[in-house]
Amino acid sequence: MGAGHTSSAAPGSMRRFHAARWDEPVIFELSVPGARGVLPPRPDREVPELTPDERVPEAIRRRIPPALPELSQQAVLRHYLRLSQETLGADVNIDVGQGTCTMKYSPKVNEQLARSPRLAELHPLQDERTVQGILEVMYRLDLLLREISGMDAFTLQPGSGSQAIFAAAAMLRAWHASRGEFPARDEIVTTIFSHPSDAAAAHVAGFRIVTLRPGPNGYPELEELRAVLGPRTAGLFITNPEDTGIFNPRIAEFTAAVHEAGGLCVYDQANANGLLGITRAREAGFDACFFNLHKTFSTPHGSGGPACGALGVRAHLAPFLPSPVVTFDGTAYHLERDRPDSIGKVRTWYGVPEVHLRAYAWIMSLGAAGLRSVAESAVLANNYLLERVRRIRGVAVPWPDRRRLEQVRYSLELGNGWPTSASTTGPATTPGSCRSPSRWSRPSRTRPASSTSTRPPSSAWPRRRTRTRSACEPRRTRAWYTGTTTARWTTRHGGR
Ligand SMILES: Cc1ncc(COP(=O)(O)O)c(C=O)c1O
Repeated sequence: MGAGHTSSAAPGSMRRFHAARWDEPVIFELSVPGARGVLPPRPDREVPELTPDERVPEAIRRRIPPALPELSQQAVLRHYLRLSQETLGADVNIDVGQGTCTMKYSPKVNEQLARSPRLAELHPLQDERTVQGILEVMYRLDLLLREISGMDAFTLQPGSGSQAIFAAAAMLRAWHASRGEFPARDEIVTTIFSHPSDAAAAHVAGFRIVTLRPGPNGYPELEELRAVLGPRTAGLFITNPEDTGIFNPRIAEFTAAVHEAGGLCVYDQANANGLLGITRAREAGFDACFFNLHKTFSTPHGSGGPACGALGVRAHLAPFLPSPVVTFDGTAYHLERDRPDSIGKVRTWYGVPEVHLRAYAWIMSLGAAGLRSVAESAVLANNYLLERVRRIRGVAVPWPDRRRLEQVRYSLELGNGWPTSASTTGPATTPGSCRSPSRWSRPSRTRPASSTSTRPPSSAWPRRRTRTRSACEPRRTRAWYTGTTTARWTTRHGGR
């Protein structure tokens, strides 16, 4: 695949995308001793006058100089331009978001804001009084996210979605412990098509994981959930729509059942494009939820780059939020650190301010109606792409009659005569764009008898044709691809 609209192509026309291949060495191999790209300004007059001992204490002085590459500016520029063309050429061609399972629109104007020296040159140790502007942005972003989710307080500290899940799990543990119920309550229930981090990060936080599998509708049956709930239930961590793109319409009954069993519920809304302005975590009965600002809210997903998993909670969990939180006393903004019940820090400083600023600008530029139109456009675009992709030979979609929200999981079976290049046969050719079949075998320690298999029912899954392969025939390869589309909202952005 790899065709997409380009801004330079005539409206409605499609262009084949061919990723550039540059055989680019790593930057250290390009190093030329003595080459310089930047000549740093000379230090203040006083610094050279200090003795070496005064400048850097002996104990932390380097024995060997750092192994930094030495390159001219042009060499650096060309190196990174070539690399950028290899990563799907996002800036020069297709409009497909590079993050997993997400449709997104990351306006370049927000990039300009984030790169302003007024923000980039802030130092995290600056006195609060000198960073009132960015603290105000964080505070206001917190209020906007409360409105979008129905939660009562947010932390912008977690540096990723997985870290937000870890923070949420640590808070659930602290909440149960404060009531004398941890470690007795040590089980987190999740679903096989929730994001794997929901299970992994909760496990790292000290919980045992119970995994539910989908029923005939593409999501677990309520009875399956009830069967695993009990006095050990600490909570439910769930992605909805799940990674299949299928939305569980009985979610409020799920959260009610978990509450009845004494657990709390955390909503993974890392990809909220299909939900904005339409449904909120609070009304679905959740105690906490998080958004990946680096997916839905304007920061490009850098495949591990600067990010934020903005984590919101209802009032009963607020005391456990990571410290500090941004507060406003009517006159000035503060970083409140005196929080005795806080789980502590999950990341240095207060997260990544550039990501916060982009999210704030994005929400403010769209407004409430704009956010809703993001969701409507995202769902429409996703289902449009689904219809196009499913016509491709070899593509199958599980639960084919179920509507999708903002993503689709396809199975692509490649056989004789099909391209076998790395970009079409491997399960993980592009960081984050595909998932390997190993997801089916996520370990589950305490799966109920009815949930022993992690595969969906065979009736719901495309059947493999069996035939003998001749020795010279290319190997059949099965890969799982997550279909993603870019949400375009013509109303606010002039039909781009
Ligand atoms: C639904 C969902 N939850 C959680 C995550 C984890 O987020 P991150 O990659 O920022 O750790 C992702 C990212 O792929 C996701 O799609």
